[in-house]
This record gives sequence, structure tokens and C-alpha cells, in this order.
Amino acid sequence: MVVKKKVVLLGDSAVGKTSLIRRCVFDKFDDSYISTIGSKVTKKELKIQTPNKTANVLLMIWDIIGREGYQALHARTITGTDAVLLVADLTRKETLESLERYWIPIVVKVAGLVPMAFVCNKSDLEGQNEFELDDLGDVASRYNSEFRGILPEELGFHQFTSAKTGTNVEGTFRSLGHLVLASEKEEDPLEEIYGFLAASSVAGQSDITSSIGALDAIMVDFCKGMDDERTAMMILRQEITRAGVDIKSPSKIGIIRAVEYLAEAENEYWDEKTVMDNLKRRMRWAKGVKE
Ligand code: GTP
Ligand code: MG
Repeated sequence: MVVKKKVVLLGDSAVGKTSLIRRCVFDKFDDSYISTIGSKVTKKELKIQTPNKTANVLLMIWDIIGREGYQALHARTITGTDAVLLVADLTRKETLESLERYWIPIVVKVAGLVPMAFVCNKSDLEGQNEFELDDLGDVASRYNSEFRGILPEELGFHQFTSAKTGTNVEGTFRSLGHLVLASEKEEDPLEEIYGFLAASSVAGQSDITSSIGALDAIMVDFCKGMDDERTAMMILRQEITRAGVDIKSPSKIGIIRAVEYLAEAENEYWDEKTVMDNLKRRMRWAKGVKE
């Protein structure tokens, strides 16, 4: 039997979330940097040996854009996760600080105290480090109190990784495999709805007159209308790219174009009135952006 579990990689832009997934799943690395648009799911099957059983775990690994400000999208993606991997870049201290300032609070709000593993990525750049592994250890020690003792000795809650050389990448995902099994909780039919309520309350706090806030609201609005989040994200990626939008600093004109393209795409899924209503609502957000 295969147990299917969701994990999400979190951390600031360019810390190496996409690269860690690519290394783990495809054993590849690329020096070029293309920011992740929206979110993306990759699967990885692991055989996890615990003292009393062997389990086949299918990890649904969610990758997300690290740029702060996309909080509606972040909250939505984190909803229902079984564990998270928090990633910092050892060459930038601010990526460590943002874990407890921005990322962990969202996790706790929408998913509760799920297991949290931590990595300090880009260990191949040692010498350029702005903090030590122990600093990450201090953060990690404040969480996971119920999950202590779950991990085998050779795996930890916090470690160095390098997506470039592959150091500790496999081990990190194995830690996640152990943690998702350990967090196996009673199915609560209300959990999903609680998660979505918490996610909307986080979304409600964003500034919709900023360009990122508006694009964030448009992306989540588009996803809500589609049955399948992965298809929705695929369409979003395609249309946002076609509109020439820079996801890290979107221009108002680019967002307006993306809204038009999304309406074209929606013609295949919805009747004319729904498409028009969606278009008008999103266009109001796009045109309300203060530049
Ligand atoms: P967003 O999608 O914008 O949130 O960024 P991300 O966290 O997915 O970062 P990504 O994996 O795209 O990596 C950003 C840059 O860092 C790319 O140029 C990678 O090649 C580089 N990078 C990632 N991991 C490592 C690493 O372990 N070592 C080194 N030297 N570079 C890395
Ligand atoms: Mg990425």
C-alpha cells in the first residue's frame, strides 16, 4: 500500500527550493535562475523503514514562489499539508530571519503545528556563509516537540544541503518521509474547511493595491474557480508568462494583459457570463494597482 502525503517547500526567493526538488527527483542541477510562478507539484516515492513497519510513501512535493507578498497563494498552498521543509540560504542571513517572521506564522495559522524540517542550502558556498548551522538549529529546536525521537540517528530536523553537489538532499526528503508518517493524524472532516477559512483570513490581510497583492488575489481567484489546482496553476504559469509579467515585480500593464489572457483561457471552461464577471472583477483589481 502507498501512503500519499503532501509536503511544501517554503523560504525566500532564490534560496534553492526548486533546485532541491530538481536534485532530489531528477538528479539534475541548473545554475540559471527562473523564479517559480505560482506553485508546482512533483511526486517522489520513498520506502520508509520505521521500527515497526516499512511504508511506501508517495510525497506530493509542492514548490512555491518565495517572494513575500503572495500570501494568499502561500496560505492556500500550505493548507492541508502534512509537513513542511523550511529552506534558508546560508549566504544570506535575512533568509534565516524570515523563517520565523513570515513563513512559520503562516504555517501555524493554516496547517497547525505540523512537523517542520529545516535546511541551510548552498553548503557548497561555505566560506561565504552569513550564519552557522547552529543558528538554524536554534530555530528548529523551538518546533517539533511532539515529533522528537521520530527520526533515525543519521537524519535530523536541520541540516546543510547543496542542491548543486547533492549533499544531504536525499536525506532531507527521507526525513520528510519519516515525519509525514509520524504526523499521521485522525481524519477530521472539518480540517479542510478550517484550513481554507484560515487561508482566506491570511489572504484578507494583503494589500490589494500593490502590484503583487493584486496579482496574488487574481491568481487565487482563478484557482478557486477551477476544480483542479494543478491544471489551474499550469494555465496561470502559461498565461502569466505569455503576458510577459515579471512575477517578482509585476507591472500594472502586464497584470492587465494577464487578466485578459486568463479570460480567454476560461472561455474553454465557463459560460460567457461567468467569464465576463470574472474578467470584470479581476480587471478592477488590476486597474486599482497604485504605481
Ligand atoms: P523562487 O522560485 O523565486 O522562490 O526561488 P527558489 O527558492 O526556487 O530558488 P531556485 O531553486 O530557483 O535557485 C535560485 C538560484 O540559486 C539558482 O541560480 C540556482 O542555480 C542557485 N542554487 C540553488 N541551490 C544551490 C546550491 O545548493 N548551491 C549553489 N551554489 N547555488 C544554488
Ligand atoms: Mg522556485
